[in-house]
Amino acid sequence: MNIDLYFTPLQIQDELSLQNKTVIVVDVLRASTTIATALKNGARVIIPTASVENAVKYASTLEPDSFLLCGERGGKIIDGFHLGNSPLEYTEEKVKGKTLIYASTNGSVAITKTKYAKHSIIAGFVNISEVVNFVKGNSDDVLILCSGKLNRFCIEDAVCGGMIAFLLTKGKSRKRFNLSDSVNAGIKLYKSYGKNLLKMLRESEHGKFLIELGFEDDLKIASEVDSIPILPVYSDGVIKALR
Ligand code: MLT
Repeated sequence: MNIDLYFTPLQIQDELSLQNKTVIVVDVLRASTTIATALKNGARVIIPTASVENAVKYASTLEPDSFLLCGERGGKIIDGFHLGNSPLEYTEEKVKGKTLIYASTNGSVAITKTKYAKHSIIAGFVNISEVVNFVKGNSDDVLILCSGKLNRFCIEDAVCGGMIAFLLTKGKSRKRFNLSDSVNAGIKLYKSYGKNLLKMLRESEHGKFLIELGFEDDLKIASEVDSIPILPVYSDGVIKALR
């Protein structure tokens, strides 16, 4: 099995090249965490969009009470939207049975870039074992795609990506896998920063930004390994919980 890791979605040069791959999209702060929370709390489907304009356009095709417009710009709720991007907003009361149209700055954009992938799965620390167990069950080449921050490296996605690679190869000889340099680097980052995930999130650029905005609790939620055992799969334009 080949395993590769992209630190930003900019590294995808040809979306069609993902056709035979299982892609794991990672956006720890906060898209992956929020998507897992929303599905756990009964959201029917989540429709990720690459822009706010696309989200609004899509919403205009749906029955008014059937959907919620969700997402953020600069970490804050978008004007006229129903929900921002804190997982704490995605309660059962608000999201159960709803279609969520979801536009975030990095995560939803990265997800839409994987539309041609054989499988596209969304992962954070909160659902990491679900994702790893699913991927272990097939022999496709794997691409771990970090959403990054505005097309730049971010530590929390790299550490989570490294943890995924570590768990995928754990207990087996690494020689059985064809691991890219970035995967090996990601595993090293995980071994170093993974000892205290909350500390790593607090010290990350985006973590500090979210704390300034008053979203400190979101970091704690995002740091809790396997707290939301959901497998979000993106297929035919929508994200659903496979289990
Ligand atoms: C994103 O997709 O850029 C993030 O989830 C941003 C955020 O923390 O809201």
